Amino acid sequence: MTATHPAPNATGRPHWSSRMMFVFAASGSAVGLGNIWKFPYIVGENGGGAFVLLYLACLIGLGAPLLIGEVMVGRRGGAYPASAFVNVARSTGLSAAWGGLGALGALIAILILSFYSVVSGWVGIYTVDFAIAALGGDAARSGAEAFSAMLADPVLQLTAVAAIVIAAGIVVYYDVTIGVQSVMRYVAPLFAILLVAMLVMIATTTDTFWQAVVYMFRPDFSALSFDAFGEALGHAFFTLSVGMCGMLIYGAYLDDAANVPRLGIGVAAIDTGIAIAAALIIFPIVFAFDLESAAGPGLLFIALPQGFTLLPFGNLFGLSFFAATLLAAFTSLIALMIIASHWLSETLRTSNRTASLIAASLTGIGGATVTLSLNLWDNLTILGFGLLDFFDELTSAWLLPLSGLGMAIFVSRAIVPGLPDGLVKTYLNICLTYLAPIGILVFVYSKTVGF
Ligand code: TRP
Repeated sequence: MTATHPAPNATGRPHWSSRMMFVFAASGSAVGLGNIWKFPYIVGENGGGAFVLLYLACLIGLGAPLLIGEVMVGRRGGAYPASAFVNVARSTGLSAAWGGLGALGALIAILILSFYSVVSGWVGIYTVDFAIAALGGDAARSGAEAFSAMLADPVLQLTAVAAIVIAAGIVVYYDVTIGVQSVMRYVAPLFAILLVAMLVMIATTTDTFWQAVVYMFRPDFSALSFDAFGEALGHAFFTLSVGMCGMLIYGAYLDDAANVPRLGIGVAAIDTGIAIAAALIIFPIVFAFDLESAAGPGLLFIALPQGFTLLPFGNLFGLSFFAATLLAAFTSLIALMIIASHWLSETLRTSNRTASLIAASLTGIGGATVTLSLNLWDNLTILGFGLLDFFDELTSAWLLPLSGLGMAIFVSRAIVPGLPDGLVKTYLNICLTYLAPIGILVFVYSKTVGF
């Protein structure tokens, strides 16, 4: 791996228009289907409060320190994943082979894109349906049959995937400082308004809100298996978008004086707050109508729409909910495509614009393959898994913990020793130098030998 892109110098490097913009953009990357679709359903599958605690421990002990570290690597090494690692490794006397982390991150991003684009497409389809229902048209999609009917319809899903990938592709084409900033300027406030309005509505219209709070925060450790550790760790990385160089790229556009630990903790707090808010919107509905809380991936698309149809102003509620989810998914899709496009640009030595077109095409091809595996090609499986589950499991449960922990070790050797003494250095040192390797061992052990 050769460094085709030089390390940035302090002058002349493009910047976020403000540090707030960085927080918006990084939160736009972090907050996505992971918060709204995945977090509530894995909490449901793992029995509630105890899993939430385990997840918070992984987030504070490994996720947030890695987020801070990744941003620092980007600021020192530049916005191109492999070159950034090589640049920082060279300047600290480490092997250039660490550049492989950039390639691994990009590979994971490309794999995630293939199913993320499909699930984002479903969200788009539900949003349009609830919009039509809210305007007085046909009833919105709800229940298991409607969900299966959608999965069986390749044309509808391919249209949705194409629409969302093209829209994201246009933003990526304009790159980070123009594309992402122009989108986040509007999406961040709109998303916040929708979320708060929904929380207020749920807390005032259902009498199961407190039941959901208790479910989320009263730990019942008997409901927890050791497998849950891998899931919690994988999700902590997934939800913060770390371990794939997305935060590295956004960090490269930060000015040198920015306080990275403070900004990173801000982003992690926003991400966690939104995941918890989403769960506190979803579970009261699940409990109020006796829906299945351990419904897995179908929670968002089967159980929840059923609940919406039973609520007062349900169509409007459903529309707000799915529109907010669509915004969150869209900005994460953009961030994922930026990783693929930056890495393709440095590897194929093409311009960012050409690379963005290739990244969008790859996403479209991956998304179309996963879509067709749900219907026309339903005998297409890998190791007995459907493609969607396979890519999800392969990335979140295997590759992401490994690349994240590898990055943690890199940061602990290349970045942490150069930090000024103090609280931040101690925190990063404890987490990245000591906890991360222990985390790897426990993770690999639980995956291979089992407990
Ligand atoms: N964090 C996103 C979510 O919660 C998903 C994601 C994982 C992501 N890795 C990423 C987004 C890298 C952008 C970049 O849905």
